[in-house]
Amino acid sequence: MDPEIISSPALMQERARNLRLERRPIALVPTMGALHEGHLSLVREARQRVGPDGVVIVSIYVNPTQFGPNEDFEAYPREFDEDRRKCSGEGVEIIFAPNDRQMYAASDGGSHSVHVVERQLSRTMEGSSRPVHFEGVTTIVAKLFNCCLPDLAVFGAKDYQQAAIIRKMVHDLNFPVAIEVAPTWREKDGLAMSSRNKYLSAEERSQATALHKVLQQCSAMVMQANDPQSVTADILLEHAREVLRAYPLVSLEYLAFFHPDSLEAVSDVRVGHHIAIAARLGRTRLIDNIRIG
Ligand code: PAF
Repeated sequence: MDPEIISSPALMQERARNLRLERRPIALVPTMGALHEGHLSLVREARQRVGPDGVVIVSIYVNPTQFGPNEDFEAYPREFDEDRRKCSGEGVEIIFAPNDRQMYAASDGGSHSVHVVERQLSRTMEGSSRPVHFEGVTTIVAKLFNCCLPDLAVFGAKDYQQAAIIRKMVHDLNFPVAIEVAPTWREKDGLAMSSRNKYLSAEERSQATALHKVLQQCSAMVMQANDPQSVTADILLEHAREVLRAYPLVSLEYLAFFHPDSLEAVSDVRVGHHIAIAARLGRTRLIDNIRIG
């Protein structure tokens, strides 16, 4: 069956309230569309969690407030018909697809002036590279939660820092929403699936495997360390730069070694810590991360 398409936040809220009165659990998969296999794995996770009587809502909205002025908001792929077909194939009941006016117009004709800001976990990595990004993410996710009234929401582990910040928002602001984080989906050669992979030229695509290679090799170095059972972040960074010499199209933005809960940088890297990478290939910016061990 084709999913029901709802674009109005007020109608979405009314629909969600009725579903809750019918005691049907609601799972939300927030996306910006251009759905790939990674997104569909989140939809399957959502379905598994709410069961056949539950309702899976996929939101499709390219949120302008999480893009910086020189980022790819205009170029971001918009493939609504294809997305709808994929959602239909997964048995998604509702697609919530609002537009900018519906999401951000203020009732008095002025500007949208209330935002959600996380001040701790968003200081590093993506937060320092993309200053407005997480404020845009937390604000839109809070709005999506208020429109769709989900019992649970599913996010991908590729955006590890995003998922940690959303968990923190849910805890600190008492949203009654359980947060699930599903594993990163990868192409056969290890490249993490991303809607932005579409921007890559053939040559860039073949070099993009470097990101996962760097993560894996750094992880292997830590796992092989005996005494002490850690490797310094400086040594790992030096090794990463060495690996990247074979990939001239890849320009490293950051390689971060951090604690999985606090997201604080670690200088002695051990099993259980995480590694995240951000790099540019031409106009495309990609990110990835893994847990060591
Ligand atoms: O991960 C994404 O696609 C976006 O950041 C999200 C969570 C849908 C908010 O716009």
